[in-house]
Amino acid sequence: MRAEAEAAAEAAAEAAEAAAEAAAVEAAVAAVAAAEAQEAAAAEAAAEAVEAAASVAALAAAAAPPAAVPLDELIAATEGFAEARKVGEGGFGRVYRCDALPSLPRVACGFAVKTALVGVGAQGLAELQSEVRTLSAACHRSLLPLLGVCLAPARACLVYPLCRGGSLEDRLYRAPAALQRLHMLGFETPPPPLSAAARLRVLRDAASALHYLHTLSPMILHRDVSAGNVLLDERGNGYLADVGLARAAEATAGSSQQVSHLSTQRLFGKLGYMDPIIPQSGQASALTDGYAFGITLLVALTGRGAV
Ligand SMILES: Nc1ncnc2c1ncn2[C@@H]1O[C@H](COP(=O)(O)OP(=O)(O)OP(=O)(O)O)[C@@H](O)[C@H]1O
Ligand SMILES: [Mg+2]
Repeated sequence: MRAEAEAAAEAAAEAAEAAAEAAAVEAAVAAVAAAEAQEAAAAEAAAEAVEAAASVAALAAAAAPPAAVPLDELIAATEGFAEARKVGEGGFGRVYRCDALPSLPRVACGFAVKTALVGVGAQGLAELQSEVRTLSAACHRSLLPLLGVCLAPARACLVYPLCRGGSLEDRLYRAPAALQRLHMLGFETPPPPLSAAARLRVLRDAASALHYLHTLSPMILHRDVSAGNVLLDERGNGYLADVGLARAAEATAGSSQQVSHLSTQRLFGKLGYMDPIIPQSGQASALTDGYAFGITLLVALTGRGAV
């Protein structure tokens, strides 16, 4: 009887020991799993932070002054301003995309290099320089920041974050040329039309950037507000682009004969967006910027052209 009881007690003790061991192993496994999960979460958060730091939104908020970028670097990064890298063309010149530039910190969005179509000449260069100085003082979360400048007389270039969502104009009209530009920005297939909410969000962002410029002291006028100068990032945030570039384009125009678009811009801003008061008074103002924004609003809400 006693031997049986002893055996039972021994078995119970062994079972308890085994259970305790199993529990300890389980706890250790759980602790390792928890540590691993924590590590993975930390790594994910770090990756997200790097991504966020290099997004258009983070660059807009960073207030870093534009860096001087040598022309050689821009030529190398755009493969000699290759047609295959061209994402658009406008009043100042052509726009090319590139992934990295040695003079600038790495960014997730990539860079848009805007290059003058014609040599800018000494006067144009001075105007551009003063424009860059003015703009360097402006910083707003919805204002497309100027990241780099190249003031080579042969080829002045401005470097911005690449807005992979394209221009509001291209996203609204979706004409073949617009879809081709969006394809160049990375859309494998044409993006769906922007919803009303998405349009309002982009307009709100652009309006807040314009209001910011107008409340600076001294006030900065945009002079070329249009649906083409409101750009979207890959998350659908809106950015007001090309502040003051209309004036820089005027200076560029002064140095060349072949500048019909630029001289049109010198007189009128963009067709359809121009306040009728401009040809009468020859003066741009916060109100003429406001008029152009009003047209942008109508264009975005109705989907119809400005003219
Ligand atoms: N930072 C950018 N990121 C992505 N695409 C851009 C960027 N800047 C310009 N683009 C594309 O290039 C096109 C041409 O731009 P550009 O600013 O030279 O002319 P625009 O905006 O049409 O007219 P404007 O001369 O009045 O600014 C834009 O419509 C847009 O599609
Ligand atoms: Mg533009």
